[in-house]
Amino acid sequence: MNVQTINVSLTSKLNNLSYPIFVGNNLLSNCEDILKKFVGNRKIILIHDDFFSFENGFNENLTTFIKIIKKLSKSVNLIDLPGGDKTKNISQLNFILEKSLSFEIDRSSLIIAFGGGVIGDIAGFAASIVLRGIDYIHVPTTLLAQVDSSVGGKTGINSSKSKNLIGSFHQPIAVISDLDMLKTLPKREFLAGLVEVIKYGLIHDVKFFNTLENNYKDILNYDESKLKYVISNSCKIKYEIIKNDEKENGKRALLNLGHTFGHAIESFGKYNGTIIHGEAISIGICLAFKLSTELGYCSRSETERVFNLFKKLTLPTSLKDIKSLSITPLEMLKKFKYDKKNKNDQLTFILNKKIGKSFIKNNMDENILTEFLNEDM
Ligand SMILES: NC(=O)c1ccc[n+]([C@@H]2O[C@H](COP(=O)([O-])OP(=O)(O)OC[C@H]3O[C@@H](n4cnc5c(N)ncnc54)[C@H](O)[C@@H]3O)[C@@H](O)[C@H]2O)c1
Repeated sequence: MNVQTINVSLTSKLNNLSYPIFVGNNLLSNCEDILKKFVGNRKIILIHDDFFSFENGFNENLTTFIKIIKKLSKSVNLIDLPGGDKTKNISQLNFILEKSLSFEIDRSSLIIAFGGGVIGDIAGFAASIVLRGIDYIHVPTTLLAQVDSSVGGKTGINSSKSKNLIGSFHQPIAVISDLDMLKTLPKREFLAGLVEVIKYGLIHDVKFFNTLENNYKDILNYDESKLKYVISNSCKIKYEIIKNDEKENGKRALLNLGHTFGHAIESFGKYNGTIIHGEAISIGICLAFKLSTELGYCSRSETERVFNLFKKLTLPTSLKDIKSLSITPLEMLKKFKYDKKNKNDQLTFILNKKIGKSFIKNNMDENILTEFLNEDM
């Protein structure tokens, strides 16, 4: 077992936080030493994606993991939930809270989220509010969660108005990313995760983008060493961006490249699988680059390079690629108003000067935006 550890240290006015992200193969069946320190005879609530439920016949990784935690903890109580964004709602949150309390937990109890970004986001949010906050560990089981949602402590659920509007910042005490978990992940979900990986190159690191451009075939073929590099480097870049801005008062907003468009598009899909998060972000990033070019910030050839990589990966680059979704520019514009980056009714977008150089564009002119949407939708 070859484990790489990335230590996340966040310093804010109120507290200094640090936690490890463990990345490696065959980690879950060998995690006793790693977990000892974190589990330490506590009561555990293990919230897992029902893909791993016993009823679904695939339980090897989860059963091994449960055996290890049972050895280390006072008790293990299970809650299973379906994956997919439909789960990130207030009634599922209430279910988790009531069920957790029924296990007679106390403030030393520990939530473990075992699943993708959806399970991590909702379980992390539950951990941040139950008994006014208890610890949680994330065991991310999708590529998207391993490279993005498990890092940085954003937790939450969707509102009927739009994505991720209800939530909190609550950092995990550890993240355990086992590459072997990705072996059962459908290709569509793997590709969706790759979008967030490419995003890091686009925002901050042109060399990383070049590497992805040159190695995408090996990555798609689950080349273990390249995949491990992709996951750990993504975590490092994200950490680099958030380390001095835990609560997104500045630079952290760059990580939202493509997300103003993407979250709006995703919410029109009603979270029913028509379009999944990474696919919506793929379209969103392409729109953000196109807008950057139309506003004269970014050259056309750079934008074409971005489109080409997403196309080679068979990811959607335009709303026209999602035939069953029809959104008018006006509807889209209304959704932008719910974006959390906006201040004083002014729309904020993340745009690019080139690949590897994103910037925050405040006070986006609504007329320009309407014209852009009229042309591109
Ligand atoms: N908190 C953050 O910082 C952050 C960042 C990015 C995205 N997100 C959120 O993450 C969510 C998307 O995460 P996701 O793509 O992991 O979605 P997800 O958790 O819904 O998982 C995607 C699908 O894969 C299945 N699955 C999970 N692990 C599997 C495995 N190992 N093998 C087979 N199937 C498996 C799930 O059941 C689900 O159907 C969105 O809600 C998004 O808003 C949060």
